[in-house]
Amino acid sequence: MCGIVGYIGSNNIKDFLLEGLKELEYRGYDSAGIAVLQDSELSIFKAVGKLENLVRKTKDFHPQGFGVGIGHTRWATHGKPTELNAHPHMGEFSYVVHNGIIENYKEIKKELDAKFVSQTDTEVIVHLFEKNLEELQEPQKAFKATIDALKGAYAILLITKAAPGKIFFAKHGSPLIVGRNGEEIYFASSDAPLIGHAKEVHYLEDGQWGVAKAGSVRLFQDDEEITPEYKPLTLNKELAQKGGYRFFMEKEIYEQSDVITETMMGRLQEDHIEFEELDEDFIQGINQIKICACGTSYHAGLSGAYLLEKLARIPVTCEIASEFRYKDPVLTSDTLFIVISQSGETADTLEALKMAKNAGLKTLSICNVDNSSIVRLADRTILTRAGIEKGVASTKAFTTQVMVLWMLALYFAQLRQTLASEAVVAECKAMAHTPAALKVHSSMHERIRRLSKRYLHGHGFFFIGRDIFFPLALEGALKLKEISYLHAEGYPAGEMKHGPIALADPELFTIALMPRHLLYDKIKSNVEELSARDSTICAISPVEFELADDFIKTASYEHFMLEYYEMAVVLQLLAMEIAIRLGNDVDMPRNLAKSVTVE
Ligand code: F6R
Repeated sequence: MCGIVGYIGSNNIKDFLLEGLKELEYRGYDSAGIAVLQDSELSIFKAVGKLENLVRKTKDFHPQGFGVGIGHTRWATHGKPTELNAHPHMGEFSYVVHNGIIENYKEIKKELDAKFVSQTDTEVIVHLFEKNLEELQEPQKAFKATIDALKGAYAILLITKAAPGKIFFAKHGSPLIVGRNGEEIYFASSDAPLIGHAKEVHYLEDGQWGVAKAGSVRLFQDDEEITPEYKPLTLNKELAQKGGYRFFMEKEIYEQSDVITETMMGRLQEDHIEFEELDEDFIQGINQIKICACGTSYHAGLSGAYLLEKLARIPVTCEIASEFRYKDPVLTSDTLFIVISQSGETADTLEALKMAKNAGLKTLSICNVDNSSIVRLADRTILTRAGIEKGVASTKAFTTQVMVLWMLALYFAQLRQTLASEAVVAECKAMAHTPAALKVHSSMHERIRRLSKRYLHGHGFFFIGRDIFFPLALEGALKLKEISYLHAEGYPAGEMKHGPIALADPELFTIALMPRHLLYDKIKSNVEELSARDSTICAISPVEFELADDFIKTASYEHFMLEYYEMAVVLQLLAMEIAIRLGNDVDMPRNLAKSVTVE
């Protein structure tokens, strides 16, 4: 998750690039860089950390007159956040910025006889372009041959001394916009940097690429030249950052189906899981796992515990970090200690990690923010690659954490040989369907929106589920609590009759998670018991359930995890729509902070 900008023209090139990057900084701030080409004179600046470091570095740089420039703000996916890994990446005479992931970069790298200075996937693009140029002698052909060789997701801007005054661009899977205002041409990965500069914009579609120079953009769809479809640009920056959604939370719910692809990229293979972050040496001697986290991350951890035990047959416990750190826990050296955190800064989780390290345990963090305190402290880290999460109520961080844990469970299953190879392939196949399960369909969203009006009052909610759907129920209840301020509890469905069922009456809303592929008959009888006591039931299931007062039908998937993912989205939307109807600020709920850095 990075941001890119580009500019062709004579009007203060540096200011456009830096201001544009400022608008995109929310997408990543591990490092930033710009490259400006004027005739054959190149100036390049890069800095680790926030954009202000780059601004400081460029304070004496005052390019005058015509030039082309590209800029990038980075959210590390391959390689640490260092200056060498920061974009733009350089060949001998060409420079590139890229947003996305090049899946086949290792194969391309092997074929190139170039000097690589970074650990990134991006650097192959510029070396491959220069090699192609040597062979084809024509920059546009060389650029096309380059993008044809790339697999994965990309939005690319490339400048080269072999064609000064031009920017080569391409989009596949990652967003890219080209804008114009007279002779000036602009590029950006979202609207916000273009507002106040470009008068009209063309939103590139996948497979589109081209070459731009002052006053002209040549656009191609695969091999055919096409005319850009320019539209006037919106003028509201906040709206532009939210991509047209009402709240960042809504945008992030919709984004899940895309970001999960980034979580899996390079890790999920057709018949196995690969983690370049792990190796057999590290895993050697581990006989049990302890997971520690807070809030939503804890719910992801609980879900992971079910998966690890099911698939890898390894004993797992999962604990709330604020409890763990004061209970004088027994820690044994054959335990892998996993902490999960979106921010990487949660004080209790960080302390729990320190305790595990002091006890000599191997530690692994599953985190969304590279270079955060938790990432720096843990022995190993698997990044969730969800991109910056702005809504205080966590959504895409949760689903990507669960994905890392599912892949980890399968990785352990491979090493411990607890699954037959056909079963491993079946899990991989199911994982590949996750983006579809996370996709928000407008009919589903509309149904939830309409139904939400019946759930604004009453004296409380029970979210119930069994097995791995129990932590999902906990997460559904937490989402509702934090943004609607209504009382909600998550409960294991089988436990209701041991006490909570006493609360059942028509004013008690039961949100029942009823997957087809996991204990369906068991949960069905639990819900029947509640219905018999007049609780109002909202059933979420692919199987019609006649006792439900409301029914949200989910798709019929073959694997329970795909049911889990679709239901996660349903619960997020339900909480959001109820909170919106109640008039709450969904992105900034009262009393909460995005990152809890105090005890
Ligand atoms: C709920 C939520 C919190 C966080 C918790 C841990 O939507 O966001 O419960 O999950 O504060 O935060 P991280 O994951 O940053 O350690």
